[in-house]
Amino acid sequence: MFYKALLSLIVLAWTTVNAAPHAARSISSECINVRLTNWWLVANCLTGQDSSTRIESSVYLPNKITNTEGTLEWKINGLFAATCNDCTILDSSKLNCQCRPTAGQRKNTTLDLNEHIRNYNGHLLNDLSGPPTIPKTSPINMPSDLSWALYLGGFSCYAPSNPEICGSSSPQDLTCPSNAAVSSSTGSPSYCFQYRLPVSTPVWYKWNSMKAEAPGMAYEFLLYDNLDCAGKPFRAMEPSEFGMCENLGRSALAVQVRPLWNADS
Ligand SMILES: *[C@@H]1O[C@H](CO)[C@@H](O)[C@H](O)[C@H]1NC(C)=O
Repeated sequence: MFYKALLSLIVLAWTTVNAAPHAARSISSECINVRLTNWWLVANCLTGQDSSTRIESSVYLPNKITNTEGTLEWKINGLFAATCNDCTILDSSKLNCQCRPTAGQRKNTTLDLNEHIRNYNGHLLNDLSGPPTIPKTSPINMPSDLSWALYLGGFSCYAPSNPEICGSSSPQDLTCPSNAAVSSSTGSPSYCFQYRLPVSTPVWYKWNSMKAEAPGMAYEFLLYDNLDCAGKPFRAMEPSEFGMCENLGRSALAVQVRPLWNADS
């Protein structure tokens, strides 16, 4: 009898422990050291294992928040950073900025980040497009230098709606140029970059070689043979290849910049 009771007690304890890590908890109750690094929200949050184990994770806020007439609001790819400045974290979980309306003075505006960013097993994740999937915990720390740059070479032309524009593209020089085609000094992750020519007809560059630079060595660059970064990338450029102009072996139409640290980008 005693044995049976003990067993059900153990089962009960097991279920409770097992269920706990899956719950989403608020930033203010579970995270410490909540800070802004460039436009990243960074914090050390409890993993749910015990009362002291934490991991560092981050959320790229411009992809989640917008500025509507001087007021911070939630929006996927909202890009508030373009029109707001002097941002700080208040009360360990609120984003405070001075944001520009279409006309007139900047407004002092505050958004409670707990509304759509929560702690899932130590990972800060947003739920703007539904309950998030909890990623595997990365052993890589967020670097202090978040910059990256991509140098693209071996160009040919791509105009699916008007192929005669491109003519017959001949084999290209695979040298990577000295100017970056796309870069970020503040570590903005790029959802999906395509190299569109600045003309009204839809024409893009395809590239056959690429050099990646990222001094923090904490990104991977995913290459796609379609414009939407759909499906599986045909190649990932990893930190071991940074600084070298690599022949991709085929044409890339789009690239995605993916942080290797714990990041909701
Ligand atoms: C903006 O408002 C917050 C919260 O009310 C306040 O703490 C902060 O000092 C204000 N900032 C400025 C620059 O007025």
